[in-house]
Amino acid sequence: MSPKNDKRGPSYGQLEAGTERARPIQHQHGREIQPYGKIAKLPIALDEKVCGASAENLNQLLADTMTLRDMYKKHHWQVAGHTFYQLHLLFDKHHGEQDELVDDIAERIQLLGAISLAMAADVAETTIIPRPPRGREEVPEQISRLLEAHEIILKEARTIAKQAAEAGDDGTNDLVVSQVIRTNELQVWFLAEHLVDVPVVRVDQAKATASGR
Ligand SMILES: [Fe+2]
Repeated sequence: MSPKNDKRGPSYGQLEAGTERARPIQHQHGREIQPYGKIAKLPIALDEKVCGASAENLNQLLADTMTLRDMYKKHHWQVAGHTFYQLHLLFDKHHGEQDELVDDIAERIQLLGAISLAMAADVAETTIIPRPPRGREEVPEQISRLLEAHEIILKEARTIAKQAAEAGDDGTNDLVVSQVIRTNELQVWFLAEHLVDVPVVRVDQAKATASGR
């Protein structure tokens, strides 16, 4: 039986009557409340200029950290070879740790009164980490690419930490030193050891003889 012929209940028009205040108001567009690049100062006892300079630095670090995070996921999915399982797990672990850094950096930018970058297109325009191909790479190339990205981030992080300390922005200095630099350094170690060319099953007899052992 169609609702029209159903004599037991009200028609659809009657069902909607009186619910105006309970209905979601969709498709709304307004003016943004803060333009990108401007500071809406919070009472954190730091000069506006210091907040602005730190936020600008942190947005660069954020874009590069988001790019490295996403590169880890790419490699987590695309890794191949006899170390597949180990690297599949390691890449995902590092992805998770970089994701935590992304949130910490973005929220520091917001508490400095600035606006953190968020969307992929803005990140792509900002990052200085070279773009990897869409296709699948061999493990040594994947790891080399990750190591290069880590080094770019570590270099800029050290500069940002120094500038923040000199400007009196101890919070930014602490975040960059204790979280960003330490996490990246540790991940570099875990990656770089995979590129040491040592035998897997047999020692290299030729090298052992040549060295007189
Ligand atoms: Fe996964």
